[in-house]
Amino acid sequence: MTLKLPKVIGHRGAAGYAPENTIASIRAAADLGVKWVELDVKLTKDNIPIIFHDDDLIRTTGVAGLVAQTSYADICELDAGSWYAESFIGTPIPTLEEVLDVLFELDLGLNLEIKPCPGREKDTAEIAIDYLSRIWDERDNLLISSFQHVSLEAARDLAPDMARGYLIGGSLPDNWQEMADYLEASTINIGSRLVTPDIVEQVMDSGRPLLVYTVNDAMEARRFQQMGVDGFFSDMPDVILENLVKSH
Ligand code: G3P
Ligand code: MG
Repeated sequence: MTLKLPKVIGHRGAAGYAPENTIASIRAAADLGVKWVELDVKLTKDNIPIIFHDDDLIRTTGVAGLVAQTSYADICELDAGSWYAESFIGTPIPTLEEVLDVLFELDLGLNLEIKPCPGREKDTAEIAIDYLSRIWDERDNLLISSFQHVSLEAARDLAPDMARGYLIGGSLPDNWQEMADYLEASTINIGSRLVTPDIVEQVMDSGRPLLVYTVNDAMEARRFQQMGVDGFFSDMPDVILENLVKSH
């Protein structure tokens, strides 16, 4: 199975233009001509997969509380848009199921990042993959990623045919190649601070595409592209798209 990876993936939808991880953000990404979006999924207290980044609700809803201790009914009462701009007042936190419908409608590919609340690494992957397997037939426009090895392991075991992205944050572990092999990862996704010519070369040698997050500066994207980076996550995907060197 070959992934049809685009050069630019909208980060949390298009978080530079609309509140992250909302349907408004997905629609903003589509309006900019983006082909894929990256979204974070985690579980409510009652195991509903929702699209949300932080373990705590406070930053994007103004209400303190852990997602892991909040029921879906209570999540529905929250406003995930007003922190961002007045025009987004009343924007709800979407479920995974709701965003899948919108992605189909807009014909967008998905990088679903499994972002479990602590202790929910396996369950989050299993429940999210269960929804995806029932709904998402295509395999060339879907990438499951996570920083959590347990989540990727669960994804590999449950849905070996869904491509996995091995997300690496703080620093590159010495055994990253072994881990990538063990997790049967199709892509390596690293933070922009980790990008060096040496690391790009190591990943290229492993035969896997290298995706870098979160790149909002056009010149940085071009520099990385020249080093051999294959794709970028961006809050402002249009800015990056316009400035990459086009391949013929
Ligand atoms: O998947 C790329 C990127 O989203 C990882 O970091 O914290 O933005 O989810 P974060
Ligand atoms: Mg993410």
